[in-house]
Amino acid sequence: MTSKILFVCLGNICRSPLAEGIFIQHCQAGGLEGRYLADSAGIGDWHIGHPPDSRAIATAQKRGVHLPSICRQVKADDFQVFDFILAMDRSNHRDLLDRCPKSLRGKIQLMREYDLGQDQGLDVPDPYYGGPADFDAVFEILHRCCRRFLDALETSPLTKPR
Ligand code: 4NP
Repeated sequence: MTSKILFVCLGNICRSPLAEGIFIQHCQAGGLEGRYLADSAGIGDWHIGHPPDSRAIATAQKRGVHLPSICRQVKADDFQVFDFILAMDRSNHRDLLDRCPKSLRGKIQLMREYDLGQDQGLDVPDPYYGGPADFDAVFEILHRCCRRFLDALETSPLTKPR
Protein backbone atom coordinates (compact mmCIF):
# COMPACT_ATOMS: atom_id res chain seq x y z
CA MET A 1 0.00 0.00 0.00
CA THR A 2 1.21 3.49 -0.84
CA SER A 3 0.93 6.17 1.82
CA LYS A 4 0.27 9.62 0.41
CA ILE A 5 1.92 12.60 2.10
CA LEU A 6 1.13 16.27 1.40
CA PHE A 7 3.50 19.01 2.63
CA VAL A 8 1.88 22.45 2.94
CA CYS A 9 3.24 25.97 3.45
CA LEU A 10 1.97 29.45 2.60
CA GLY A 11 3.32 30.01 -0.91
CA ASN A 12 4.37 26.49 -2.01
CA ILE A 13 7.64 27.82 -3.43
CA CYS A 14 10.04 27.59 -0.45
CA ARG A 15 9.37 25.30 2.54
CA SER A 16 6.91 22.68 1.28
CA PRO A 17 8.79 22.01 -2.01
CA LEU A 18 11.95 21.56 0.09
CA ALA A 19 10.13 19.16 2.44
CA GLU A 20 8.77 17.21 -0.54
CA GLY A 21 12.21 16.91 -2.19
CA ILE A 22 13.97 15.97 1.05
CA PHE A 23 11.31 13.38 1.93
CA ILE A 24 11.65 11.82 -1.53
CA GLN A 25 15.44 11.70 -1.11
CA HIS A 26 15.10 9.94 2.28
CA CYS A 27 12.72 7.42 0.64
CA GLN A 28 15.13 6.79 -2.24
CA ALA A 29 18.05 6.35 0.16
CA GLY A 30 16.06 3.71 2.03
CA GLY A 31 14.76 1.93 -1.10
CA LEU A 32 11.23 2.99 -0.16
CA GLU A 33 10.17 4.89 -3.31
CA GLY A 34 7.21 2.64 -4.03
CA ARG A 35 5.83 2.90 -0.52
CA TYR A 36 5.24 6.63 -0.43
CA LEU A 37 3.84 9.31 -2.71
CA ALA A 38 4.85 12.86 -1.76
CA ASP A 39 3.39 16.13 -2.99
CA SER A 40 3.25 19.74 -1.82
CA ALA A 41 0.77 22.60 -1.99
CA GLY A 42 0.23 26.15 -0.74
CA ILE A 43 -2.41 27.93 1.28
CA GLY A 44 -2.13 30.93 -1.08
CA ASP A 45 -2.52 31.16 -4.85
CA TRP A 46 0.14 33.77 -5.74
CA HIS A 47 2.66 31.44 -7.40
CA ILE A 48 0.48 28.77 -9.03
CA GLY A 49 2.28 27.11 -11.93
CA HIS A 50 5.74 28.34 -10.88
CA PRO A 51 8.75 26.22 -9.96
CA PRO A 52 10.20 26.63 -6.45
CA ASP A 53 12.00 29.84 -5.48
CA SER A 54 15.51 29.92 -6.99
CA ARG A 55 17.00 30.18 -3.48
CA ALA A 56 15.24 26.96 -2.41
CA ILE A 57 16.52 25.25 -5.57
CA ALA A 58 20.10 26.48 -4.86
CA THR A 59 20.00 25.24 -1.23
CA ALA A 60 18.66 21.86 -2.32
CA GLN A 61 21.16 21.49 -5.16
CA LYS A 62 24.05 21.94 -2.73
CA ARG A 63 22.77 18.84 -0.92
CA GLY A 64 21.95 16.82 -4.03
CA VAL A 65 18.19 17.16 -3.57
CA HIS A 66 15.90 17.61 -6.58
CA LEU A 67 12.72 19.68 -6.15
CA PRO A 68 10.05 18.36 -8.55
CA SER A 69 7.29 20.70 -7.32
CA ILE A 70 5.27 23.00 -9.54
CA CYS A 71 3.27 25.33 -7.31
CA ARG A 72 -0.37 24.55 -6.69
CA GLN A 73 -2.90 25.54 -4.08
CA VAL A 74 -4.44 23.18 -1.51
CA LYS A 75 -7.77 21.89 -2.86
CA ALA A 76 -10.78 20.32 -1.20
CA ASP A 77 -10.12 16.75 -2.28
CA ASP A 78 -6.56 16.81 -0.88
CA PHE A 79 -8.13 16.07 2.49
CA GLN A 80 -9.65 12.88 1.06
CA VAL A 81 -6.74 11.80 -1.13
CA PHE A 82 -3.78 12.23 1.25
CA ASP A 83 -3.15 10.09 4.33
CA PHE A 84 -0.91 12.62 6.08
CA ILE A 85 -0.89 16.40 5.69
CA LEU A 86 2.10 18.20 7.20
CA ALA A 87 1.84 21.95 7.86
CA MET A 88 5.04 23.99 7.97
CA ASP A 89 3.84 26.41 10.66
CA ARG A 90 0.98 27.01 13.06
CA SER A 91 -0.68 29.51 10.75
CA ASN A 92 -0.74 26.97 7.89
CA HIS A 93 -1.99 24.40 10.40
CA ARG A 94 -4.93 26.63 11.43
CA ASP A 95 -5.79 27.41 7.80
CA LEU A 96 -5.78 23.71 6.92
CA LEU A 97 -8.00 22.84 9.90
CA ASP A 98 -10.44 25.57 8.82
CA ARG A 99 -10.69 24.12 5.30
CA CYS A 100 -10.79 20.45 6.27
CA PRO A 101 -13.98 18.46 6.97
CA LYS A 102 -14.13 17.67 10.69
CA SER A 103 -13.91 13.92 10.20
CA LEU A 104 -10.58 14.23 8.34
CA ARG A 105 -8.80 16.71 10.61
CA GLY A 106 -6.77 13.94 12.25
CA LYS A 107 -4.67 13.75 9.08
CA ILE A 108 -3.23 17.23 9.68
CA GLN A 109 -0.04 17.58 11.70
CA LEU A 110 2.68 20.14 12.32
CA MET A 111 5.97 19.29 10.58
CA ARG A 112 8.02 20.58 13.48
CA GLU A 113 6.42 18.13 15.89
CA TYR A 114 9.00 15.81 14.35
CA ASP A 115 11.79 18.11 15.51
CA LEU A 116 11.17 17.75 19.22
CA GLY A 117 14.23 18.07 21.37
CA GLN A 118 15.42 21.06 19.36
CA ASP A 119 13.31 23.37 21.58
CA GLN A 120 13.00 26.04 18.87
CA GLY A 121 9.25 26.32 18.60
CA LEU A 122 6.72 24.63 16.39
CA ASP A 123 7.16 26.62 13.18
CA VAL A 124 9.47 25.98 10.27
CA PRO A 125 10.48 29.66 9.80
CA ASP A 126 9.42 31.29 6.54
CA PRO A 127 12.64 32.09 4.60
CA TYR A 128 10.92 34.07 1.81
CA TYR A 129 12.09 37.48 3.05
CA GLY A 130 15.46 36.11 4.18
CA GLY A 131 18.73 35.20 2.51
CA PRO A 132 20.64 32.05 1.56
CA ALA A 133 21.55 31.30 5.21
CA ASP A 134 17.84 31.24 6.09
CA PHE A 135 17.18 28.74 3.30
CA ASP A 136 20.10 26.59 4.50
CA ALA A 137 18.70 26.66 8.06
CA VAL A 138 15.25 25.63 6.80
CA PHE A 139 16.85 22.81 4.82
CA GLU A 140 18.51 21.47 8.00
CA ILE A 141 15.26 21.64 9.98
CA LEU A 142 13.33 19.85 7.24
CA HIS A 143 16.05 17.25 6.80
CA ARG A 144 15.71 16.29 10.48
CA CYS A 145 11.89 16.43 10.45
CA CYS A 146 11.50 14.33 7.28
CA ARG A 147 13.94 11.74 8.61
CA ARG A 148 12.02 11.41 11.85
CA PHE A 149 8.63 11.43 10.13
CA LEU A 150 9.70 8.67 7.73
CA ASP A 151 11.13 6.63 10.61
CA ALA A 152 7.79 7.01 12.43
CA LEU A 153 5.87 5.88 9.33
CA GLU A 154 8.13 2.85 8.93
CA THR A 155 7.69 1.94 12.60
CA SER A 156 3.88 2.15 12.67
CA PRO A 157 2.54 2.69 9.13
CA LEU A 158 -1.13 2.09 9.95
CA THR A 159 -1.39 4.60 12.77
CA LYS A 160 -0.76 8.28 13.03
CA PRO A 161 3.01 8.51 13.57
CA ARG A 162 4.34 10.37 16.60
P1 4NP B 1 6.70 29.46 1.56
O1 4NP B 1 7.28 30.97 1.53
O2 4NP B 1 5.37 29.55 2.26
O3 4NP B 1 7.71 28.71 2.37
O4 4NP B 1 6.60 29.01 0.13
C1 4NP B 1 6.55 32.03 0.97
C2 4NP B 1 6.54 32.22 -0.39
C3 4NP B 1 5.84 33.27 -0.95
C4 4NP B 1 5.16 34.16 -0.11
C5 4NP B 1 5.16 33.95 1.25
C6 4NP B 1 5.85 32.89 1.80
N1 4NP B 1 4.44 35.24 -0.67
O5 4NP B 1 3.90 36.06 0.09
O6 4NP B 1 4.38 35.39 -1.91
